[in-house]
Amino acid sequence: MNVLLIGASGTIGKAVASLFTQQGHQVIGASRSTQPSLDFTDQSSLDAFYEQMPEVDAILAIGGEAAFSSLDQLTNAQIEVTLSSKLMGQINALRKGKVKIRPNGAFVMTGGILAYAPWPNTAMVAMVNAGLEGFVRGAALEMTEGRRVVIVHPPLVAETATMFGMDATQFPTAATVARTYLDAVENGQNGTAIFVDGHAPA
Ligand SMILES: NC(=O)c1ccc[n+]([C@@H]2O[C@H](COP(=O)([O-])OP(=O)(O)OC[C@H]3O[C@@H](n4cnc5c(N)ncnc54)[C@H](OP(=O)(O)O)[C@@H]3O)[C@@H](O)[C@H]2O)c1
Repeated sequence: MNVLLIGASGTIGKAVASLFTQQGHQVIGASRSTQPSLDFTDQSSLDAFYEQMPEVDAILAIGGEAAFSSLDQLTNAQIEVTLSSKLMGQINALRKGKVKIRPNGAFVMTGGILAYAPWPNTAMVAMVNAGLEGFVRGAALEMTEGRRVVIVHPPLVAETATMFGMDATQFPTAATVARTYLDAVENGQNGTAIFVDGHAPA
């Protein structure tokens, strides 16, 4: 199959691109730094990108910014970025891109386990992740010809935990999380939330 992977250069996106390629699938990687570029916070960028893109079997959105901040320190600018990037970026990527997905294909969004198990200073991220899941449940009712929309909620991945200076041993690697994305594309049921094995909410 051929897939569009928005965020293919990111920590999780790189591992997903590598797994899909190993499995013989063709990956079109896109982000603000690719050529052609795709900035999903900008509707004209989405229009221009999709216009030149062939039909695909799946679109995976694995990127977007969301602010980690205490409520006391949260700025209006951080709120704005969170809403326009991780939330509306993925929603607009689906709205505009679903016509490019072949029948029975899938659109995979990315939330995160903080929707279910937030930590202090993650209220904005928890809100976006939970909001995206609600969107997926509703949007699923309007998917046609067997097309599916699903959301993967990754836990913190080991590479990111290491970057934060945390003990990474309890977290799955990006390569492990990538297998969940492949499963989401191949078997994900329309309108559902998908968790990494061993990292579903209690
Ligand atoms: N890493 C984790 O532990 C973890 C855990 C749970 C959930 N998540 C979620 O998983 C997603 C990916 O996380 P990550 O850690 O892999 O992120 P990352 O390493 O920061 O990479 C983000 C990717 O998204 C692209 N991107 C960012 N803004 C974009 C935009 N406006 N338009 C198009 N592409 C854009 C980036 O490329 P450019 O800079 O070139 O645009 C990059 O390829 C995020 O939504 C994150 O919240 C991550």
